[in-house]
Amino acid sequence: MPRIAVIPGDGIGREVLDEGLKVLRHLDNKEKLALDFDLLGYGAERFLAEGVAITDEEMASLGADYDAIYLGALGDPRVPSNEHAGKILLGMRFQLDLYINLRPVKLLDSRYCPLKDKDPEDLRFVVFRENTEGLYTGIGGQFKVGTPDEVSIQAELNTRKGVERIIRAAFEHARTHDLKRVCMSDKSNAMRHGHDIWQRVFKEIAQEYAEVESSHLYVDVLTMEMVRAPEQFDVIVTNNLFGDIVTDLGAQLQGGIGLASSGNLNPGKAAMFEPVHGSAPNLVGKGVANPLAAILSAGMMLSWLGRPDLEARIEDAVSSCLKDDLVTPELGGELSTAAVGDALVEHLEK
Ligand code: IPM
Ligand code: MN
Repeated sequence: MPRIAVIPGDGIGREVLDEGLKVLRHLDNKEKLALDFDLLGYGAERFLAEGVAITDEEMASLGADYDAIYLGALGDPRVPSNEHAGKILLGMRFQLDLYINLRPVKLLDSRYCPLKDKDPEDLRFVVFRENTEGLYTGIGGQFKVGTPDEVSIQAELNTRKGVERIIRAAFEHARTHDLKRVCMSDKSNAMRHGHDIWQRVFKEIAQEYAEVESSHLYVDVLTMEMVRAPEQFDVIVTNNLFGDIVTDLGAQLQGGIGLASSGNLNPGKAAMFEPVHGSAPNLVGKGVANPLAAILSAGMMLSWLGRPDLEARIEDAVSSCLKDDLVTPELGGELSTAAVGDALVEHLEK
């Protein structure tokens, strides 16, 4: 019986997760998955009331007591520092050691692609974003803040273990999914210390996967190439910050941030699935949030739990909704968040 921790979080996170859960419950009934959901109230509300985002015990329990975590979004204007989001979201990634941030960039319907003449077969790559180090560890500090002599240092951490395991995961994904090419992206021409290790480790590991074509692009060039000729990519592997940036670009290429899903993974551990988008406080309560990214993330979760067939069915249903204009206003449709969820379940029924 798969145990799933559900963290709706803040803002539209709650609205889109309602629809994701609608889809999961539907499939649960049909397929007798026996999913066991625990609703957890971590987010701004709790942080403001209790001054605690998530305790050490609660974090440990997420890792020990669940097979998967399904997250909405975190972020609330009443917490301008976003401290609670950092503690919960980055907390899960770091403390549960979810070193792979897997972000598919998949065009489901050409009409939603901002690039000219691109079909679904031109845009179907995955990004392996390193998820536990890089510029995200908080190493650094500030000195003489607010004075003319102010100094701010944010250090980038690149460990042998960290670089090796994300690169290996990317090649392993290519091998097991019969994908031809892995492209590593860094900025080793400018970051001579931090990114030299990426160069060396990538070359080493590539040799173990002789059947996979390996290539390298500096990250500035990568962004150009993703727009110019995205069909050249199967698997992209990069560090935490670059992965953050290029997956927002990827999200737009596939039709917008409302369609971008992700999984935070470490084989054998509790994995966390979330839409790439944020809590969008300006959209809250209007019923206009696009639930498809959350629904696609639910599909990734089912695949991780052993049912890739159900992920494929969810993807088909999302494609059908896109084709039939059964979408929210930002994609040109007229449906509410909940109505998109209903339409999706109807397509699953067919
Ligand atoms: C993401 C988000 C986060 C990140 C923020 C909210 C810290 O942008 O998941 O892409 O940078 O990883
Ligand atoms: Mn981001």
